[in-house]
Amino acid sequence: MTYYEQVQQAADFIRERTDLRPRTAIILGSGLGELAERIQDAEIIPYKEIPGFPPSHVAGHAARLVFGRVGQREIVAMQGRFHYYEGLSMRELCLPVYVLGRLGVRDLVVTNACGAVNTNFSPGDLMLITDHINLSGRNPLIGPNDERLGPRFPDMSEAYDPALGCFARETAESLEIGLREGVYAFYSGPSFETAAEIRAFKALGADAVGMSTVPEVIAARHQGLRVLGLSCITNMATGIAATKHSHLEVLATAAASAERFCALCDALLRDWPE
Ligand code: HPA
Repeated sequence: MTYYEQVQQAADFIRERTDLRPRTAIILGSGLGELAERIQDAEIIPYKEIPGFPPSHVAGHAARLVFGRVGQREIVAMQGRFHYYEGLSMRELCLPVYVLGRLGVRDLVVTNACGAVNTNFSPGDLMLITDHINLSGRNPLIGPNDERLGPRFPDMSEAYDPALGCFARETAESLEIGLREGVYAFYSGPSFETAAEIRAFKALGADAVGMSTVPEVIAARHQGLRVLGLSCITNMATGIAATKHSHLEVLATAAASAERFCALCDALLRDWPE
């Protein structure tokens, strides 16, 4: 089966399971899955039931699609995402993003937990992603290109949609929620970075570093989806932080910021500019 056929098969399966046809999707990162509890009239599809969806095993990540409404707006949430460090290929881990596109999604909100490289940031801060640096040397579009999914050489000059960025700034301001802005660097993980790596990433222009998001954003832009990126800073990166890192620390800080994060996302989704 070709990749395109795999995408179609998963999309056909989902269309049979729900009548909802949301135009906006959100991918919920580590410790940020609580937002799914705010989705009304939820219709849940576990990833493991969807043909072609990769298996998912990371602690702190549920593994299901949640269709429903926030206010009047239909949305679909990926509660739990796939990571390159799980051993999936970039293509495999991006399949759900192509499925969302096939289902009619036009706008994608990507969220994550990440470490701060910018020393002005603090754990618990929320950050609007203005751009990214792909430090992995990998790309989900490597291999034969299927023009039905997108062009061979997609432009990435506005990977994070400027108008959606303005909308996020205005919404955060109206809620009096502080919103940092910066460049997200993607590091494959699963080991955390060394202090020398963080110094290098800082010199390259990174404000934050994490192990997700960039593959999905590339797949989204390939299809022409508009992207809004939001990060929760869960720790200062290696060499800046006074203590050693742990995934539990990441989850705990994300959970402590979840209320603000959820309030912001809830307001964004409710008033989403079509
Ligand atoms: N590095 C990489 N990924 C992360 C971090 C970090 O410090 N914190 C949360 N995700």
